[in-house]
Amino acid sequence: MLLGVASGRFILKTLPDDEEFVATGMPDRPRLILATRNAHKTEEIRSMLGDRYEVLDVNDFPDLPAIAETGTTFLENARLKAEGISREVPGIVLSDDSGLEVDALGGAPGVWSSSYGGEEGNHPKNNERLMREMAGRTDRAARFRCTMVLAEGGQTLADFSGTVEGRIVEDLRGTGGFGYDPLFVPNGYDATFAELGNEVKNQLSHRARALAQVVGWLAGRG
Ligand code: IMP
Repeated sequence: MLLGVASGRFILKTLPDDEEFVATGMPDRPRLILATRNAHKTEEIRSMLGDRYEVLDVNDFPDLPAIAETGTTFLENARLKAEGISREVPGIVLSDDSGLEVDALGGAPGVWSSSYGGEEGNHPKNNERLMREMAGRTDRAARFRCTMVLAEGGQTLADFSGTVEGRIVEDLRGTGGFGYDPLFVPNGYDATFAELGNEVKNQLSHRARALAQVVGWLAGRG
């Protein structure tokens, strides 16, 4: 069963009995489909956009193929995801590829942030490895980087990038956010992203900065 999305309406294209089913959505708001299965990212983007956009992600489309992130840069991976998903669903697709760059580690974990500890998406293991690699180092400078790509019909429309500079602390602090948030203190603050909470994080994060450009670009497009 393929769930397609057209302006303001959900369309289940191939029901078991081959009948087309149309359920009315909210036709007023433009819709963005996020090329992610990461519920944390979706929640952050949804809360940053407020009610300006209706935000779906690939979890709303159970039959979509998984997109292999085989790129060696954030932009390559973001393009793979946005173009790959937009080939399968109608409408504008937004992808986000992001990660942490630590100066003392030569920019690692970078594009491999989500599997740094050895297992894809295992945040506790990623944080354990980062603490181990950083033990005893005095240069603690780091940044989160986010690249976003908008695509439609398999073609990239535009790409955007946002960063937030900060430093890596020695021990996990705080329970908010996700990923490396308990180890990252943004410049100008003493608390980690996990301690600062979503409201503060969503005002200054790499994702917020990239998303602000996305919103400006979409608004200019009309
Ligand atoms: P992606 O899903 O391939 O873009 O990988 C993103 C990975 O980078 C996540 O699994 C986290 O490890 C890390 N990451 C990206 N953004 C954040 C953030 O806002 N906070 C903490 N970790 C992040």
